[in-house]
Amino acid sequence: MTTSTQIQRLAIVTGASTGIGRATAVRLAADGFHVLAGVRKRSDGDRIASSRIEPIILDVTNDEHIAALVERVAQDPAGRPLSVLVNNAGVAVNAPVEVLSLDDWRFQFDVSVFGQIALIRALLPTLLSTRGRVLNVTSVGGRVAMANFGAYSAAKFAMEAVSDSLRREVEPFGVAVVKITPGAVSTNLTESGLAAAARVTDTMTPEQRRRYAELSRAFIAQAEGFARDGVSPEHAAAVISKAVNARRPKTRYTIGRDGAMFTFMPRIVSDRLLDAMLRSQNKSLAQEKR
Ligand SMILES: NC(=O)c1ccc[n+]([C@@H]2O[C@H](COP(=O)([O-])OP(=O)(O)OC[C@H]3O[C@@H](n4cnc5c(N)ncnc54)[C@H](OP(=O)(O)O)[C@@H]3O)[C@@H](O)[C@H]2O)c1
Repeated sequence: MTTSTQIQRLAIVTGASTGIGRATAVRLAADGFHVLAGVRKRSDGDRIASSRIEPIILDVTNDEHIAALVERVAQDPAGRPLSVLVNNAGVAVNAPVEVLSLDDWRFQFDVSVFGQIALIRALLPTLLSTRGRVLNVTSVGGRVAMANFGAYSAAKFAMEAVSDSLRREVEPFGVAVVKITPGAVSTNLTESGLAAAARVTDTMTPEQRRRYAELSRAFIAQAEGFARDGVSPEHAAAVISKAVNARRPKTRYTIGRDGAMFTFMPRIVSDRLLDAMLRSQNKSLAQEKR
């Protein structure tokens, strides 16, 4: 719902060119925010621009882009305060731990961990002054680390920890910190994840190929299932909007039934049982690709 107070506030959404970020920018604009929508390409910005969506060139690994964003917020022509940072930008580089190069590990962390932290550090003084909010888009991968998802999950587990620490540090000063935990959402992430996985598979030795053949097949079937059965980005954006607009937001909002299930599961299932469940799931997924 649009209210006059919301119209006068700013929201930042990173990774707004596609998927959850794009849908969130559109949704928050409809909620009444003036949205600074982070994109890496001008053409993506042109596609999303509207009277309430202002594209900002933002690669979260680029210090100059982040400094320019801070300046843009400080110099808002209408003097609108910053209400929320939605840390959404992310990448997925999936391969077995043994196979993934250190450069790929660093790339995963540079975007999905250090990029998010850089934005938090740059904008926290402003958010403290406005008693704003930080929403970190994590993942079920930040609750359960499946085979082949080591780097992605490590980054998401890291953001779980960052979110918990940050919340305990700044909530007493009026800044809410919220984890958004999606299960499967139909976005480009599947496609780009499959492309990254195929590139890494090309670097495997024949022995590694044999070792991880079943896992690779299971991963492809699982990714296809994500794209087919995932909830829509608009559904995800509606959950994010709830977290942004709630008077007293919860510490975590899950997205989709699998989001809720995987968030809860590690609390009640032992490591060994979870290993067995995930192994059996991978076996049946791999069968689909035979
Ligand atoms: N889709 C799912 O099933 C799912 C599940 C759990 C969690 N998530 C999380 O949801 C978030 C959004 O993902 P999505 O599913 O909407 O995928 P997506 O459509 O691929 O969107 C990813 C966004 O991140 C941006 N991005 C990538 N590298 C960047 C960088 N260095 N700086 C700034 N932006 C960058 C991309 O921009 P470009 O277009 O320029 O590459 C794009 O806008 C991610 O954090 C992801 O881990 C997704």
